[in-house]
Amino acid sequence: MINTKKIRKFFPAIKAGRTISNNAASTQVPVQLLNLFEKLIVQYDNVHRGQSAASLLTTERFESSYDTIAQFINAPSRKNIVLYRNATEAINSVMYSLMTEFKDGDNVISTFMEHNSNYVPWYGLCKEILSKFGVNVEYRLVKFNKETGELDLTHLKSLVDQRTKLICCSGASNFLGTKNPIKKIREIADSSGYIQPDGEKKSYLLIDGAQVVPNIFTDVKDLDADFLVWSFHKMLAPFGVGALYARQELLERMRPFLYGGDMIAEGKVSPEKVEYNVLPWKFTAGTPNILGTILSAQAIRLLIDFSLNPVKYKYFMTDKKLERKDIEEAMKNVEFHQKILIGEALEILGEIPSIKIYGPKNPEDRTSLIAFTDRDKNPFEIAEGLTKLGVESRAGCHCATLAHHYFELNPPASCRLSFYIYNDLEDVRKACLAVKKICSGQW
Ligand SMILES: Cc1ncc(COP(=O)(O)O)c(C=O)c1O
Repeated sequence: MINTKKIRKFFPAIKAGRTISNNAASTQVPVQLLNLFEKLIVQYDNVHRGQSAASLLTTERFESSYDTIAQFINAPSRKNIVLYRNATEAINSVMYSLMTEFKDGDNVISTFMEHNSNYVPWYGLCKEILSKFGVNVEYRLVKFNKETGELDLTHLKSLVDQRTKLICCSGASNFLGTKNPIKKIREIADSSGYIQPDGEKKSYLLIDGAQVVPNIFTDVKDLDADFLVWSFHKMLAPFGVGALYARQELLERMRPFLYGGDMIAEGKVSPEKVEYNVLPWKFTAGTPNILGTILSAQAIRLLIDFSLNPVKYKYFMTDKKLERKDIEEAMKNVEFHQKILIGEALEILGEIPSIKIYGPKNPEDRTSLIAFTDRDKNPFEIAEGLTKLGVESRAGCHCATLAHHYFELNPPASCRLSFYIYNDLEDVRKACLAVKKICSGQW
């Protein structure tokens, strides 16, 4: 179980009296990371660009952050991890790096439940970029069941063929809350028969893990993902860092996304030829978000500590290797906690007759977000009412625009509440009872 009471006191935003219930967008930063930021300023210097003690120490901290991130998702090593500004940039990086591999007649598959970050880059690739070069790549979208929020795997199977280079799919929807069956999607991708440039016979699978990695125990070896992306601002870290995991062979073969300094092999630049740095630095062009990277890795350590024992830390501010069993136990605690919270939200909101809740009915099958619309009030009115009642929510399409159109919502919007490890049942009740008040006209 998560000890919310102990955890809450570390969050200045909660201490300031806010009911933080828009966590699917971004989570709050704990005081430990704010203090760490201050500490890092004393040794502030660039990485890979100086021989001062400060630069060497910062470089060491920066590089070992990649190890923490790799360990958290069970990636073989730091060579599998590339860091960008956010999950969106990470997806774009895959799109740009793979761009020259697409052949005329290939196709890419995504779904109607994607965040625009995992829809628009592929739309751009197929409809705006490759078509200009005379390469026609079809973009196919998988349906989902409107009642259950489940991805239609039969439809997916029918869309996959020998020309499917890539399937891009969210691991969990940021609108429906649905947890997608990654392993089954993997099996379908494996059976396509697509021949990749190195002779491998299968479609690649890119998982948008923005709503997965912060909330669900994630093991890339077990999932057999080719690409996985997520952002750290949804798991306690400050804004500014997103991650791409990819299989090492793929990163070794792929073209860099950004070209420039530090991503080249030392001294191997001439008018005739440029050679690239070793992984993962081949994909780190220019000065990276150094402090953000260190804080993101420490956010992982803190998340594990908070979820195991918020009084006595095992990992935060140490260089201990993260043990798999601890990560699993911590993230199972996070999942369990969120299941209890969302179960309560489903129950209270389910009592409001004018409301439609989207996504799976069973808390087991969803992450801890809940989106709904009301027969009589538009989502923006509800969100404004919630703000006045001291509850934070998000009204809009949450960048899941395709799914909102799929439900023929007009405006294409819903209201969403979402919870994290520092929320307790009291927060959930306060937020949901406020919705009840607004929708039943008592306010
Ligand atoms: C499912 C999903 N994918 C992608 C993103 C984009 O993340 P970022 O804004 O960090 O790029 C989000 C953020 O809300 C998301 O929920």
